[in-house]
Amino acid sequence: MTTKSQNKKALHYRFRKRKGGSGKSTTAMHIIVSLLDMGFKVGSIDIDARQGTLSRYIENRTQYAADKKVKLLMSDHVPLLKSEEDSFEKAKKEDEKNFKETLSKLERNDFIVIDTPGSDMYLSHYAHSYADTIITPLNDSFVDLDVMVHINRDSLELDKPSVYANRIWEQKKHKALRERGNIDWIVLRNRLSNIHSTNKQKMEEALLKLSKRLAFRCIPGFSERVIFREMFLSGLTLLDLKALGLPLQFSHIAAKQELRDLVTAISAPMLAEKMKVTF
Ligand SMILES: Nc1ncnc2c1ncn2[C@@H]1O[C@H](COP(=O)(O)OP(=O)(O)O)[C@@H](O)[C@H]1O
Ligand SMILES: [Mg+2]
Repeated sequence: MTTKSQNKKALHYRFRKRKGGSGKSTTAMHIIVSLLDMGFKVGSIDIDARQGTLSRYIENRTQYAADKKVKLLMSDHVPLLKSEEDSFEKAKKEDEKNFKETLSKLERNDFIVIDTPGSDMYLSHYAHSYADTIITPLNDSFVDLDVMVHINRDSLELDKPSVYANRIWEQKKHKALRERGNIDWIVLRNRLSNIHSTNKQKMEEALLKLSKRLAFRCIPGFSERVIFREMFLSGLTLLDLKALGLPLQFSHIAAKQELRDLVTAISAPMLAEKMKVTF
C-alpha cells in the first residue's frame, strides 16, 4: 500500500471501541456519497461485515435505484469478514492477506472509506494502521468519552489514555515505520443537541484539552436529527434527497451544510498536500 501522495489514495476510517451507535456507519455512508458527488471514484470496505450496516445501507441504495428507476452514485463496495481460523497466528495472517487483497482490488479508486466495528478485533486494528485519516465519531456524553479516555472530573484533563487511544498511537507508529506516513486522527462530535447545555460546554472544554494531549483534531459532525434514521431503508443520504425530488425541509438543508463543513474539515490537509505537490 502506498501513501496518498503516490497514488492519490486515502483511507478513511471510523472506529470506536465496544459500544455501538456513535454514528460510524452513518458517517461513512455520508462521506462516501459526498466524495462520489465531488466526482471522485470511491471504494468502500465493510469490516463490520457481520453486523453489516454499511453493506445493508449500500444494498438498500442499489434496490431503491432499481425500484424507482433512478441513477444513484455508488461506491465499489467489498464486505470483509474476519478470519474464522482457530489459531490466532493463522487468523492474523489470513486477515492481513484478505485485507491487502481487498485494497489491491480497490486500487483504482481515489479514496477508500472503511467502516469498522466497535469491537476490538485484529482485522480492524490492522486496517487502522493503513489509514491516512481515522475518524472517531463521538456522542456528546461523558459516558461515551470514557471509552476513549479517562478524564479528571474537576480539571477535565487527561487522567490516562484508554486502550483505544493507545491503539491509535500504536497504529500511527506502524504506519510511520511501514510507509513513513502520518495518520490524521479526527474526533467528530455527533448527534449534537441544538440547545446550549452545561454538558455540551464541558464536553467542548474537555475535548479541546484532550486534543492537545493526544494529538487529534476535533470537528463538529451532525446534530441529532430524525432524518438520519429514516434514510437507511432507502439507502439515501442527505445529498440524494433533492436530486430525487423528495421534499427538502429546513432541517435537511441545515444538515446538508453540516455535511459540507464536515467533508471540508476532513479533506483540508489532503488538499493542502496536493497544493504542495502542484506548486
Ligand atoms: N446525527 C444523528 N441524528 C440522529 N440519529 C443518528 C445520527 N447519527 C446516527 N444516528 C442513528 O444512530 C444509530 C446508530 O448509528 P450507526 O451509524 O449505525 O452507528 P455505529 O456504526 O457507530 O454503530 C442509527 O439508528 C442511526 O440512524
Ligand atoms: Mg456500524
